[in-house]
Amino acid sequence: MNASAQEGIGILALGIYTPPKVMTNQDFEAIMDTSDEWIVSRTGIKERRISSDDEFTSTLAFQAVEDLVRRHGREALQEVDLVIVATNTPDALFPATAALVQARFGLKAGAYDLLAGCPGWGYALAQAYAMVQSGLARKVLAIGAEALSKITDWNDRSTAVLFGDGAGAAVIGRVPPGYGFKSFVLGADGDGAKELSMACVAPRLPDGTALAKRAYMNGREVFKFAVRVMNTATLEAIEKAGLTPADIEVFIPHQANLRIIDAARERLGLPWERVVVNVDRYGNTSTASMPIALQEALDAGRIQDGDHILFVTFGAGLTWAASVLTWWGGGGR
Ligand code: ACO
Repeated sequence: MNASAQEGIGILALGIYTPPKVMTNQDFEAIMDTSDEWIVSRTGIKERRISSDDEFTSTLAFQAVEDLVRRHGREALQEVDLVIVATNTPDALFPATAALVQARFGLKAGAYDLLAGCPGWGYALAQAYAMVQSGLARKVLAIGAEALSKITDWNDRSTAVLFGDGAGAAVIGRVPPGYGFKSFVLGADGDGAKELSMACVAPRLPDGTALAKRAYMNGREVFKFAVRVMNTATLEAIEKAGLTPADIEVFIPHQANLRIIDAARERLGLPWERVVVNVDRYGNTSTASMPIALQEALDAGRIQDGDHILFVTFGAGLTWAASVLTWWGGGGR
């Protein structure tokens, strides 16, 4: 799917949460055969946040919404008619984690979880846009939240070092004309399903590939896929928005691997100053990765009204999502 989006629908409010517990590369050196040098040179990751035994995706999501309320006031949640939690680590198969968020904040809203690998929040943005545009919702609370450490295979050094926990929550709604989302690109290639997977109900994929009980990834294949799709999806999203790469003031790529980000940056011809990077401090937080990066860029004063923000993400499915957003700061948010 790809589409250009021309109505004034954008992000009205944002909040994030990362657990306080930091796990450094040195901490990994103490528990498995790895090194800070290997992890930094292959991935750019130096540390990540790990949820406590009592923290799950729901509680991380609650904290992100609390942060949103602290920053924007409780009124930011008024008129939220739908809650979407994009996650790969829902608390339970059912109920949806989104329903737990709805109850926690007393929202009069529909609620469902969205499962699309790391691009879940990118998909949720497109869903939110469409719901608001169609009039089915006045505002949508779109959350990306992950307790990936709870599904990590701690015996597999090639995946354990990559992931971290965190959450980001955004309210999507009407913004003045000229601002808001300009394009969306959503894609999937289920032929790559076996490269990044974890069992749930079935023990195997339809092609017979056995599913692991913990997160499994064929790093090399996913790396090649990621570099390819980051390039094609970003160019498609920019073109659909009627822009060129030079028009992109802020690039927020999925924070999975610094080398993948660098390859995308180079293909787009963007200088590092326009690229938001925090993979060094959080690792790959999957669906939470882009909202956390967006909030940190806002906090650092790196985004001005009217800036064109390019999002792109890839992951299990295999799936990808890209979009262009013309930022509206709401008069000094
Ligand atoms: N420490 C030390 N050595 C390691 C580690 C580690 N943590 N992990 C793997 N190695 C070893 C391997 O065993 C291998 O050794 P061998 O040559 O003796 O067999 C060697 O390092 C090289 O392994 P490669 O897999 O070829 O290393 P590569 O340079 O490809 O980097 C990595 C691996 C970082 C996983 C890379 O492939 C990658 O980033 N892939 C993309 C991952 C990603 O971004 N996923 C995002 C989607 S996640 C989602 O959707 C939930």
